[in-house]
Amino acid sequence: MSEIKHIGVFTSGGDSPGMNAAIRAVVRTGLYYDIKISGIVRGYDGMISGEIIPMDAKSVANIIQRGGTVLKTARSDEFRTPEGRIKAYEQLKKCNIDALVAIGGDGTFTGADIFTKEHDIPVIGLPGTIDNDLVGTDFTIGYDTAINTVVDAVDKIRDTAESHDRLFIVEVMGRDSGLIALRSGIGAGAESILIPETKTDVQALLCRLGEGRREKASKIIIVAEGDDAGGAFEIAAAVKNKFPGIDTRVSILGHIQRGGPPSCMDRVLASRLGVAAVEALREGHTRQMVGVVNGKIHFTPFKHAIKHISEASPELVKIVEILSR
Ligand code: F6P
Repeated sequence: MSEIKHIGVFTSGGDSPGMNAAIRAVVRTGLYYDIKISGIVRGYDGMISGEIIPMDAKSVANIIQRGGTVLKTARSDEFRTPEGRIKAYEQLKKCNIDALVAIGGDGTFTGADIFTKEHDIPVIGLPGTIDNDLVGTDFTIGYDTAINTVVDAVDKIRDTAESHDRLFIVEVMGRDSGLIALRSGIGAGAESILIPETKTDVQALLCRLGEGRREKASKIIIVAEGDDAGGAFEIAAAVKNKFPGIDTRVSILGHIQRGGPPSCMDRVLASRLGVAAVEALREGHTRQMVGVVNGKIHFTPFKHAIKHISEASPELVKIVEILSR
């Protein structure tokens, strides 16, 4: 066991539902093992400016059910510079923080990896992003909530699509990953799902729309924001051009996908990972992201976790092909 006495926990990058549950788990696990815990406010920016606050069991009461992050978050430009990172390290030393838990996505772990190479401080990462685009975990904290938000929204959109015999093109988040689109599209019974992991053939899509017009007038197409054929407006323009008679609407779901109370799956995932992160630091681990693979806690070096190979499960892609007809 290594002699960790004081852990700093922070959230960084885009917020995701379940980050609060993760903070709570880290704080309470630290206290369980007699380790002092401080919260670093606004991610790496707060580390640089020394916005560091003590946390106890009470400070994380009643947050497991809240979306967003009570520690706030930011994308820090200053931390990208060696000078910024020196300032951050000095602030941590001033507070006697001797280990970190970083909750975020690829940008957070890229920063953490460089920081631990330059400065003597162990860091364990928790995958907190709605995008589910990290290698080394089946699911990231926030993904389950986000796809349920999308399904809920599309169910509502379908009511109006049905009533007006309209085609809706719904754009969802994910940056350059299509995993939000893929699962939520299957769950919402979308007629087409366009994702960057598979080549989008707009002509084939238009052909199918033409064939299907007589069978069913209302349709839902889900398009990932990073799709290779462009976003919802580009797809809508192609449809209007070919079929001026199809009543087409675009709906961009946007940041609604990042908010709201976390699902039970996200709360449990965040709780498991928060406990595992503190235990990993006690056992002397560093520069790794903790995730869950096949139901079991799994560690992945930061440099592999952020590889950014967004892979769509061939099984799910086949399911879309079979069921969306
Ligand atoms: O990474 C999470 C995410 O919501 C992406 O899906 C999206 O592309 C991006 O963040 C939006 O970032 P911002 O909130 O800075 O506009």
